[in-house]
Amino acid sequence: MFSRRIDDDLELRPVDERVAEELAALVRRDLAHLRPWMPWATERYSVEDAREFIRRQIRQYAEDMGFATLIFCRGRVAGSIGYNNIDWSNRKTDIGYWLGADFQRRGLMTRSCRALVEHAFRELRLNRVEIYCAVENVRSRRIPERLGFRQEGTHRQAEWVHDHFKDLVSYAMLAREWKRE
Ligand SMILES: CC(C)(COP(=O)(O)OP(=O)(O)OC[C@H]1O[C@@H](n2cnc3c(N)ncnc32)[C@H](O)[C@@H]1OP(=O)(O)O)[C@@H](O)C(=O)NCCC(=O)NCCS
Repeated sequence: MFSRRIDDDLELRPVDERVAEELAALVRRDLAHLRPWMPWATERYSVEDAREFIRRQIRQYAEDMGFATLIFCRGRVAGSIGYNNIDWSNRKTDIGYWLGADFQRRGLMTRSCRALVEHAFRELRLNRVEIYCAVENVRSRRIPERLGFRQEGTHRQAEWVHDHFKDLVSYAMLAREWKRE
């Protein structure tokens, strides 16, 4: 499975059931921060939910449909990033991500995302990488913007988050554009 040391502080590691407890503890501690954006972040989030997430990622990887990695900062679980789905017929994927509140503002996600975009184009030979963010999720939107993605459009009421629909803004990078970066 995909793993990558990005620098002294930051490493992307394969999902592993042994970190389920640490992952669940991070989600539960940071519910107020994650809940507004992540449909799965609820008061009921448990170690079993973290295990099920990990197992689902392993199945998805085995089926060649994409995968999530765990973001480690100085040996601690800091969040996750992955390809939500790989559409091999159209050679495209979309990237999803989140970080614990204390791990923000250090560039961890921008660097992690750059590594997955690089992997998508260079190793997987995909042609298009998409990122969808809630219109009002300014911090998330800055990531594709920082990496030079093009904003393509707004998808009205495209995601149900707990009790309401959110409008999503889509960003994309093409393989031929990435080479010019
Ligand atoms: C979205 C989310 C991952 C963004 O986190 P983030 O910390 O803003 O993103 P990064 O890790 O790339 O850090 C960027 C910040 O680090 C700074 N930074 C420091 N070193 C940096 C580097 N080498 N490269 C890039 N940025 C760097 C940037 O200036 C920026 O700071 P600013 O926010 O003060 O402008 C985080 O807010 C989050 O998980 N939110 C909740 C879940 C969520 O919304 N997920 C996305 C759903 S679409």
